Amino acid sequence: MCGIVGYIGPKKASEVILEALRKVEYRGYDSAGIAVSNSKIEIMKDAGKIAEIEKRNDFSSLQGTVGIGHTRWATHGEVNKQNAHPHTDCTGTICLVHNGIIENFAELRERLGKLGHKFKSETDTELVAHLLEENLKTAKGDFKKAFFDMLKDVEGSYSFVIFRQGERKIYGARKSCPLVIGIGKGEMFFASDMPAVLDRTREFVFLGEAEAAILSDGGYDVYDAAGKKTSRPSKHVDWTPQMAQKEGYPHFMLKEIFEQQATIRQSSAVDVNWAVNELKRAKNISIIACGTSYYAALVFKHLLASECGIRADAVIGSEFRSGVFDKGTCAIAISQSGETADTLSAVRFAKGKGARIIGITNVFGSSLTREADATVYIGAGPEIAVVATKSFTSQLVVLYKIALTLAGKKKELLQLHDLSGVAEAVLSKSGDVEKLVGELAKKKDFFFIGRGVYFPIALEGALKLKEIAYLHAEAYAAGELKHGPLSMLEDGVPIIAIGNFDENMVKLVTNVKECKARKARVLAVSDHLGLLAEADWKFAMPAVPGLFAPIIYILPLQLLAYYMAVKLGKDPDKPRNLAKSVTVE
Ligand code: G6P
Repeated sequence: MCGIVGYIGPKKASEVILEALRKVEYRGYDSAGIAVSNSKIEIMKDAGKIAEIEKRNDFSSLQGTVGIGHTRWATHGEVNKQNAHPHTDCTGTICLVHNGIIENFAELRERLGKLGHKFKSETDTELVAHLLEENLKTAKGDFKKAFFDMLKDVEGSYSFVIFRQGERKIYGARKSCPLVIGIGKGEMFFASDMPAVLDRTREFVFLGEAEAAILSDGGYDVYDAAGKKTSRPSKHVDWTPQMAQKEGYPHFMLKEIFEQQATIRQSSAVDVNWAVNELKRAKNISIIACGTSYYAALVFKHLLASECGIRADAVIGSEFRSGVFDKGTCAIAISQSGETADTLSAVRFAKGKGARIIGITNVFGSSLTREADATVYIGAGPEIAVVATKSFTSQLVVLYKIALTLAGKKKELLQLHDLSGVAEAVLSKSGDVEKLVGELAKKKDFFFIGRGVYFPIALEGALKLKEIAYLHAEAYAAGELKHGPLSMLEDGVPIIAIGNFDENMVKLVTNVKECKARKARVLAVSDHLGLLAEADWKFAMPAVPGLFAPIIYILPLQLLAYYMAVKLGKDPDKPRNLAKSVTVE
């Protein structure tokens, strides 16, 4: 949530920052702005997505080689130009961008108001600029001291990037929000996420929790929260700039859906031994996650039961108090970004109770990796579209590998490597899914149903449709329809029935017949001729080893949501009101 960037080097800062902001726009896109330092600080900002803002503002007119930028996902204050970042103090010489929430906002506003500060926006961020202005007076002009004093004063979550007129330095700090340093050739960057500057560098410094850094033309210094210098060497990452580009696809989401034929294979090669050893020692297992990752957690819970005979608990991050954690618990936290605030809070709660933590994430150096005792990287590569697609299947592949290793199922582990071929076969029939959209896009309500391990797949299919096509979609364990939802079925309501030919199929067919008797219309996503024969619309799945079918069955549902969104004129990469990495609770 909120993308932030800082640049210091020989190039025109506004151009570098604008390009970087475009690449992290998935973090928030209701307004954006850039500030550069010349003889004075110049700011250009507005409400809207970057492409819209550019039509009204010429960012290239901003001269200067030091600057900061921001793309916003609103928390404090509505979406408008005043509330867009960057923000300044009363003198207009201290300028900053922020991601996160300042929790002692009211107290700071009152204190600074009484001291005579005038606020131009409703944001919590602007207060920090005024706080720095105030601190600078007591620090007798020492801005570094004013900066560290400010960090002691603000409560909540933040990543800040700050600069000041007349000083070739950029100050950054993070607490519960991401911020990395990029080291280029004679130039330095701050960014929320690595994809912002992957085309300029692959050398990164990952700041620890509550750490700060100061960038200058000569390099960087890292400090702990108290302002004491500390050392953080850089790391080379193997993500390439091409991975963060559309490469001819109309949207990142479609590119990422198609990438799954490769990422499924990549993820099957991931080393899971550490995680497996942790699990072997555990007395009980809890899985923690949010959103799509939570549906991966539900599949894992099912696998632990069916393949390993292990009972596990799946806990939604924000509902961590419903979980039981103790010294014998191994808590597996699943998070694509590794930055989801709800998941991280649950992890800290579990740690506080003595649990061991395994992090399953896609992002190198993310906050989850610092909290976890062992980390497994799912290896999906950068995922830019806001909604999760390839990260979901990579999570599943890694979780299957963990469960099958734990169960000692060597033959099945080998089969896991071969899944990408089936994924390719399904994706090659994307045109069949696109054709379904002609009729389905006229509908307003959708019911996704599945039994057993297909229930979480139904949940994920419905979530995709809600997220990007803004359509009402519900998912049910198929057997639950008769306990309430059947009353909502009317003439023509679409039921999406998902499942392969397993022990649940006979009952799923019965549930579909019950829906049809109430005049619902059915789309079957299945390999079972009986179910397909009942359906009004069909997507016939190729044969997949039954155990692994859920990994493949989500693919047509991702495509369905994508084509529906496009047909309805929505932007699948940037759905309204959402953000990829949700760093507030
Ligand atoms: C946000 C994203 C979802 C994602 C969820 C959890 O809501 O829009 O796509 O599933 O966060 O994200 P995580 O990074 O923890 O997997």
